[in-house]
Amino acid sequence: MAFVFVVVFFFTAVCFLLPLCLPLCTSKKRRGVGVQSGGDGQKLRLPPGSMGWPYVGETLQLYSQDPNIFFASKQKRYGEIFKTNLLGCPCVMLASPEAAKFVLVSQAQLFRPTYPPSKERMIGPWALFFHQGEYHLRLRRLVHGTLGPDVLRTLVPDIAAAVSSTLGAWDGHVASTFHAMKRLSFDIGIVTIFGGQLDGRYKEELRTNYSVVEKGYNCFPNRFPGTLYHKAIQARKRLRSILCEIVAKRRCAGAGRDHGDRSLLDGLLRSNDAGAAALTDDQIADNVVGVLFAAQDTTASVLTWILKYLHDSPKLLQAVKDEQMAIYVSNERGKRPLTWTQTRSMTLTHQVILESLRMASIISFTFREAVADVEYKGFLIPKGWKVMPLFRSIHHNPEYFQDPHKFDPSRFKVTQLLDMDCIRLLGSAALSSTRLLEIP
Ligand SMILES: *[C@@H]1O[C@H](CO)[C@@H](O)[C@H](O)[C@H]1NC(C)=O
Repeated sequence: MAFVFVVVFFFTAVCFLLPLCLPLCTSKKRRGVGVQSGGDGQKLRLPPGSMGWPYVGETLQLYSQDPNIFFASKQKRYGEIFKTNLLGCPCVMLASPEAAKFVLVSQAQLFRPTYPPSKERMIGPWALFFHQGEYHLRLRRLVHGTLGPDVLRTLVPDIAAAVSSTLGAWDGHVASTFHAMKRLSFDIGIVTIFGGQLDGRYKEELRTNYSVVEKGYNCFPNRFPGTLYHKAIQARKRLRSILCEIVAKRRCAGAGRDHGDRSLLDGLLRSNDAGAAALTDDQIADNVVGVLFAAQDTTASVLTWILKYLHDSPKLLQAVKDEQMAIYVSNERGKRPLTWTQTRSMTLTHQVILESLRMASIISFTFREAVADVEYKGFLIPKGWKVMPLFRSIHHNPEYFQDPHKFDPSRFKVTQLLDMDCIRLLGSAALSSTRLLEIP
């Protein structure tokens, strides 16, 4: 019960995040641009920083110390923008909200997402986060539209049921919090993607096969039979056929009538409404796997951190429990279902969620690749270089957050005024840093 709201928020909030675990770099080596002319003929400099040794660059420094310390010491020395070289790729790191916004929002067309081909294959090459331009925009609208407040509102009872069932299963058992949260976030993901009525058999098949995919995701891409990677590729194929079967059934059932279903899958199936070509089965399957991938681990990590922070602060825990209990009691001790409006009125709980997002910063950074030579604040970001907005450094900078290492939900008091849209943006990789920082 106590976690319904968390889940509702988080699923929306982190749906579009990619787990950090994507390795940094795939790219071919590029020419080392030194100095170049800006548009107005003025010489542009590369950002300050050191490139370390040839090829390995500063990779060893990064891996041999706490990455936070690595970034923090660079930032102290060079400021909000600095260059380095990791895993053979020249990178520009950006540690200010303004710069993050530049790369991810206002000039997003100049920076493209890049992932190693083996990862793309595993998630599905049609997943929206591998694309730019029109296809990306269309998919983004679809996903946003079907995971937005209007739809989530209708899913609250289903989500509440999934949470109760998970909590029920914990009774009398000792469980790893993270694993339990993963199971829970998978269940919520399934509800959100397929609506409340997915056959239990499909759900289990998806769960077991997805977990095989996940195990192979970070392995060396060796296709030799028996390796985790090979098993993952096989499981990914099974996921595709399970999804195609579900899609075929939905197409059949849905033909000729609007059954009012507004799950993500229904949105993807109806995507030809506006006259565009319908999405293919592969495009649908890749995006379903993509959303699961983006949502599950991130959500489970944040939920786990929330529990830890609350556990560490008994007073706060009690206050959150009181807030939840008041709603539970007003619903006749659970006889009436939790409503969307109630999830909006959990003021303290909401602050705890925001502060946990900030403190844990589970997506420490993201990366893009410059598609052209770009000028930022008088510095040159050469074409082909990786660009990394450092979310964690921003969230832990005392200039923006006083006493950044203190868990203090009250710093988000003002957010009662934020609307749902804003909350969603908070979680999205694009704006997590910038929006947070607009709050005084
Ligand atoms: C994967 O899906 C298939 C059906 O396509 C199912 O038979 C199997 O039990 C699932 N799980 C695993 C781990 O293979």
